[in-house]
This record gives sequence, C-alpha cells and structure tokens, in this order.
Amino acid sequence: MPPLVAIRDLHIAFGHTLAVRGVSLHLDEGEVLGLVGESGSGKSATALAIPGLLGPAARTTGQILWHGAGSDPPIDLLRQPPHTLRSLRGRSIAMVFQEPMTALNPVMKIGSQVAECALAHDSRCSRREARRRAIAALESVAIPQSAQRYGDYPHQFSGGQRQRILIAMALMHQPRLMIADEPTTALDVTVQAQILELLLRLQREHRMAMLFISHDLAVVGQVADRIAVLRQGELVETGPARLLLTAPQHDYTRSLLAAVPTLRTDRTQPLATLR
Ligand SMILES: Nc1ncnc2c1ncn2[C@@H]1O[C@H](COP(=O)(O)OP(=O)(O)O)[C@@H](O)[C@H]1O
Ligand SMILES: [Mg+2]
Repeated sequence: MPPLVAIRDLHIAFGHTLAVRGVSLHLDEGEVLGLVGESGSGKSATALAIPGLLGPAARTTGQILWHGAGSDPPIDLLRQPPHTLRSLRGRSIAMVFQEPMTALNPVMKIGSQVAECALAHDSRCSRREARRRAIAALESVAIPQSAQRYGDYPHQFSGGQRQRILIAMALMHQPRLMIADEPTTALDVTVQAQILELLLRLQREHRMAMLFISHDLAVVGQVADRIAVLRQGELVETGPARLLLTAPQHDYTRSLLAAVPTLRTDRTQPLATLR
C-alpha cells in the first residue's frame, strides 16, 4: 500500500532563510510519525506545507504526494489550487496547534464555534443537527456536562479543555491525517499527559494518521510509532521510536536524548510509553 503522504526532497525558503533543506518523509495510513527538533529547525514549516498553509512569503520546491483519495493517482499538495487545499483542510487534513486560546474566537460561545465547524463543511446539516453534533463532539473529548457548557465562552474553560475543544473541532469531519504541532507545549505536565492520551485514543478510534510535532523528544517518544529528527532544516535520522530512543545512530539525536532529564537519570528503564 502506498503511504498516505510522501514528502520528497522538500525545500522551503523564507527570503534568505532556508527553513527546510531537502526533507523526505512519509506517513503511512494510521501511523503516528513524531517530528522532533530544536526551535527553528523547520518542524512547523514542514507541517504547514502539507495542507498549504505556509503563506505567500514561502518558496517551496520538491513534492508532497497525497494518496488520500483512494485508488486515484496521488496529487502533489505543493501544486494544488487554493480551493482544493481548502477542501482538503476541511475534510481530510486536520491541524491542532500550540495555542488553544488564539485558535478560538474569544467572544463566541464554545458550542456555536463547534457547531459552525459542523456546518462549514456540510451544507446539508441543519442548525439543530449541528448543535447535536457539536455536543457529541465535545463529549467525545471528555468535556464534562457538554450540553450545559454549550453557551460558555473560551475563557471559562481551562487551557487543557480548550485544547480538547480544538481537537474535537479538528476531528469533526473524520480526517485521514491529523497534524498536531506542539499541541501540549503550553500545558502543564499532568494536563499534557491527558491530552497525549486523548490524541492517541482518538487516533486509534478514527484510524487516522498523525504527524505529531514537539521540540521535546520525551513527549514524542510517548506517542510516536516512528520518529524523524530535524536539525536546521535537515533530516538527521528517522527510525522506529523504540530503536531511535534506545540506540540513536546520530550524535545530534543522542544530544536531544541527553537533554531529556527523565531519560538521563533513568536510562536503564524503558520509556513509559502510552502505546
Ligand atoms: N513566515 C515566516 N517568515 C519568515 N521566516 C520564517 C517564517 N516561518 C518560519 N520562518 C523561519 O524558518 C525557520 C524554521 O521555522 P519553524 O518551521 O517555525 O521552526 P520550528 O517549528 O522547528 O520551531 C526559522 O528560522 C524561522 O525563523
Ligand atoms: Mg514550530
């Protein structure tokens, strides 16, 4: 079976900054690929290139082949018209980012925002049906008393709950691929663990692929089947998560591992993975 997404020799430049330099990666159906690297290594640029969200300042070369349309030949996401990418973003490719507050409209009720999301990509969906779907979506990400909290505003929820709500919105249309770019970085450690668990549960239930991005190798190690390491826009190493964490091939990966306190102090113990 071909991979769901195949990135081939991707280069991304912003003016004179070469953000991504010749990255090739693939994501299979239903797999979690972890993308790790220090701040500025090109993780977000790589991720944003997939659904066509890089913006006009970016120049790109290479290919991002999308096999998500079944037996049809793959399409190159770097060369699709805006309406095709918009439609893919609504249905097949979902994204969750670091800042759950900025992604929500602060003056609109939570329920209405989730319901809007249901209406946006399904023109046959009635208002009443949208409300029903919104409540179900909030329940699926474990927002307590979803129906009662429908009329609450974003600031009335905790940071972790706001991220859950955004995950619910991202999953509304059963995407094939979820891109999660530092989804837990703004959250404290216990909430972070709950969100990781939720993402993994939903990833399995929806049988979707996930590109999971973090600067923190310990976090990536908890969710990924495979891990790719980026450094200054170049791919350093890719491999099965367990292998990469226990027997890294590259010095840079070793230095990332050494920066993880729990791993440094307790190297003899296997990682406490959620998988
Ligand atoms: N819109 C942009 N305009 C100019 N430079 C950018 C833009 N987005 C990213 N960059 C630059 O590209 C490089 C990679 O950034 P990014 O992909 O955001 O890194 P990461 O997500 O790994 O922290 C950085 O040097 C960053 O400053
Ligand atoms: Mg980033």
